[in-house]
Amino acid sequence: MIRKPKKLIVANWKMNVTKEEEAEGLFLSIKNVVNKLEYTKVVCCPPHMYVNQVARHVDHRNYRVGGQDAYPEESGSRTGETSVLMMKNAGAEYIILGHSERRHLETKSDVARKVTAVLEHDMVPIICVGEEQRDRNWKKALTQQLKDVFNRVPKKNPENIIIAYEPIWAISGEKKNPATSTEYMEALDVIKKELKKIFKTSTAVDKIRFLYGGSLDDKNIEEFLKNAEVDGFLVGRVSHDPRILMTMFRLVEDHMQREMFPIKEEE
Ligand code: PGA
Repeated sequence: MIRKPKKLIVANWKMNVTKEEEAEGLFLSIKNVVNKLEYTKVVCCPPHMYVNQVARHVDHRNYRVGGQDAYPEESGSRTGETSVLMMKNAGAEYIILGHSERRHLETKSDVARKVTAVLEHDMVPIICVGEEQRDRNWKKALTQQLKDVFNRVPKKNPENIIIAYEPIWAISGEKKNPATSTEYMEALDVIKKELKKIFKTSTAVDKIRFLYGGSLDDKNIEEFLKNAEVDGFLVGRVSHDPRILMTMFRLVEDHMQREMFPIKEEE
């Protein structure tokens, strides 16, 4: 088993930040704390137009910037699009792809083309997958999403691939409705089995990182830390609240500290 000690927290700001000063202020408000985290790495994903502004302040390997989507071709007559290359030049190192809030705008092969382009530019795709409902077809829906992407993508550098399990029923609804750690583990099992078939080896799959996302906050993150095999988290609606984020960082750090240095019971 490959050792993957740092937990990754990806802050998907979505369209919730609407001014340059706000984006910059938010990024800077947690920078000193994030730069000192021992077991946690943080990636902020601002709206496209603030990526460059925010990325100028990156000066530590713990704290990086990502994008919320990108267009696979480098340049050309594509009105309104922002290419993977443009995102890279602006300072993004990660790109969220196939997010359920975007999937209705893209075809299955669009997502695969974007993943390929991101990998070709030595960036890290965060590929979102998740079923619409936990009905009798949920496993099939999940494996189909994986096939749609990975049957079209070169199977190189699995260590650069991140898969976020984000059940659609858990994302950004009016009421928070996170998956349980058991539901996440069931999905992870389905995902890993399918990826082993696709990659034809478990060594490659062991190198891929797996995140959970959907209604996460400082109240439920511990449930996943304690009971699930998770490499990190994709945080949405609370990701532009520095207070909640900092509590989540502390919970991750405390948990990891306990894992690394368990306190022995007195005899
Ligand atoms: P949420 O969103 O945390 O607001 O549910 C998660 C996501 O969309 O990535």
